[in-house]
Amino acid sequence: MNVNIIDVDNKTHALNYHWLEYPSLMELIINSYYTEIGECKGRGLCGTCIVEIIKGFDDQKIMEQEKHTLKVHNATKNNRLACQISLDNKINGAVFKELI
Ligand code: FES
Repeated sequence: MNVNIIDVDNKTHALNYHWLEYPSLMELIINSYYTEIGECKGRGLCGTCIVEIIKGFDDQKIMEQEKHTLKVHNATKNNRLACQISLDNKINGAVFKELI
C-alpha cells in the first residue's frame, strides 16, 4: 500500500507501508523523511501534525480530542491530525499535504 505526502516545500513523498506497520500516518512520515511534526508524540494535543486531505480519504472517525485540537488551530473539514490516522487500507492511494 502507499500514500503520498506533499511536504511544506511542495515536494511529494511517495511512501509505501504495510497494514498497521506504524501506529499512525505521522509515524510513517517521521520515519520516512525528516520533518518537524509530532511535538506531543501523537497524543492529538499539539496540532503540529495537521495535514490537509487532498485526495482519497474520508472514512475514519474523528475522536473528541482531535476535534478539539483541530478547532483550536482553525482547521477546516479537510484537515486531520496525521497522528490520529491509522495506517490501514482506507488511506491506500490517498494524498495529504503537510500544513506546518
Ligand atoms: S503529534 Fe501532536 S497532535 Fe499529532
